[in-house]
Amino acid sequence: MDESDTLRDASRRSGQMFWDQRFSERGYAYGQAPNQFLTTRVPQLRPGHALCLAEGGGRNAVYLAERGFQVTAQDFSAEGLRLAEELAESRGVALTCQKVDLSDFEPPVSSVDLIVAIWMHLPPELRINVHRRASMALKPGGDLILVAYTPRQLHHQTGGPSMASWLLEPEQLRQDFADCDCLVLEEVTTVLDEGPAHQGLSAVVRFHARKRR
Ligand SMILES: C[S@@+](CC[C@H](N)C(=O)[O-])C[C@H]1O[C@@H](n2cnc3c(N)ncnc32)[C@H](O)[C@@H]1O
Repeated sequence: MDESDTLRDASRRSGQMFWDQRFSERGYAYGQAPNQFLTTRVPQLRPGHALCLAEGGGRNAVYLAERGFQVTAQDFSAEGLRLAEELAESRGVALTCQKVDLSDFEPPVSSVDLIVAIWMHLPPELRINVHRRASMALKPGGDLILVAYTPRQLHHQTGGPSMASWLLEPEQLRQDFADCDCLVLEEVTTVLDEGPAHQGLSAVVRFHARKRR
């Protein structure tokens, strides 16, 4: 292992520790109800295999399972996935929970009907790679639903990372998912009410794209 591997490993471990601590201290930090934009898009979709990335406490995954999707929920936080399993059990639905670091994300090509990424903020190099692989993992006609903070969120300080480069410009999404048709790409300033961690006026991008056939 050379020095850059050691540094990468250390930063991965500190990322996991941050999120494990958040979920063990604050429980369902983003609430148990699904993200609101997700609930406006899913009723139009036919249930199939859904993959929820960076899914944390499982609220979006459970919502999809309740609507007949077969859901795989991935996250690198064991504490987050523990909450996801508990939420699924309390609602009487099944999830496949997988502890996966997005640095190792290599899903099979054309394998998934729906990918959901809500508040998945990553360093730019990793983001580009994860978005590319997510796009490849979608079946032709498959859907991607993504919600993230834009750099304008730094004025509000109501949630999200403090590094501007981890936040998402709508145009970046169009570029990252150039092999998808864009059904919704909107930037909004909206009041969030998602558990204790996301409260108040927020600068958000909402994206729904469909892989071209
Ligand atoms: C703001 S939370 C959002 C959780 C969930 N998507 C929701 O909407 O409730 C961000 C999530 O990203 C996960 N995460 C961050 N970096 C990750 C990585 N490199 N690999 C896997 N998960 C990661 C964290 O563990 C955390 O659960």
